[in-house]
Amino acid sequence: MNFVRQSRAFTRLYLTVSNRQFHGSRSVKNVSPTIESTPMRILLLGSPGAGKGTQSSRIQKNFNIATISSGDLLRKNMANGTKIGKIAAKESERGDFVPDDIMIELITNELRFINRKNWLLDGFPRTINQAEALDETLTSRCQPINLVINLDVPEDVILQRIMDRWVHVPSGRVYNLNYNPPESFGLDDITGEKLSRRADDNPETFKVRLQKHHKLTKPLLEYYSKRNLLFTFKESTSDEIYPQIEKELLKRFGREHFKGEDSSRLTNNNETNISINNLR
Ligand code: AP5
Ligand code: MG
Repeated sequence: MNFVRQSRAFTRLYLTVSNRQFHGSRSVKNVSPTIESTPMRILLLGSPGAGKGTQSSRIQKNFNIATISSGDLLRKNMANGTKIGKIAAKESERGDFVPDDIMIELITNELRFINRKNWLLDGFPRTINQAEALDETLTSRCQPINLVINLDVPEDVILQRIMDRWVHVPSGRVYNLNYNPPESFGLDDITGEKLSRRADDNPETFKVRLQKHHKLTKPLLEYYSKRNLLFTFKESTSDEIYPQIEKELLKRFGREHFKGEDSSRLTNNNETNISINNLR
């Protein structure tokens, strides 16, 4: 009799424990870890005209991510006639870089106002000094970079691209007369406002920009490669590069931040539509 009682008590205990293990008791539920998705903290590198602005717009269109373009910020400052804008106009019109201290302050300040956990920087950092300053800021905020995308495009194709480029300065939207022309010549598709040519888009200035890129920005590839952060996309045709980037982003960060159409469903004919920059 005693044995039967003991045996029932054991069975009850066993069932209670296994039920808890299976369904989770309240206390177990409360402490069970939730799976946090990895935030996207991305840098976009590439030579002048490589397509940084174009790709960052497409990433922004398809993922919940904020983007900051150093060049767009400077052009807005130029358009507004600010002190930074005046310095930037002088430097960028001859293809030189804006001094590091100005750029570091401009971008770190901008980063402070980003209220989304996912962000991408286009055009910053561009020197080792800038990269080290960015690391310092991000380390202090416990927000290390987790991916550096490098767009590797042959130089002979990019000069023609920038000669055909038109931009909408307030939004940073980029058009190209052959690749993604505006619906009406000279006008922004979204606002209908006038597009303009960039003062630094001419063969002479472009040559200087490329030289600066080789001397000051290319060393960043090694800087990030040593830390296993660098992923290079070698562009062959214009249709191929974005789907490759998207695939890599989905692989690394999962689908949680994704809000776009699956790129496997895109055809060549979609390229014009999807390359038109997204609203910022
Ligand atoms: P910034 O505006 O960043 O210029 P950049 O680095 O020279 O790069 P671009 O904007 O010219 O090219 P992109 O790679 O964005 O190409 P896009 O998508 O437009 O900087 C301007 C200046 O500001 C610098 O020179 C410097 O003075 C200063 N500056 C900025 N950041 C700085 C920093 N951190 N430190 C110091 N100084 C700084 O594409 C180019 C064209 O190609 C477009 O017309 C596009 O429609 C077309 N296109 C794009 N992809 C394709 C494709 N796949 N096929 C065909 N056409 C395409
Ligand atoms: Mg750009």
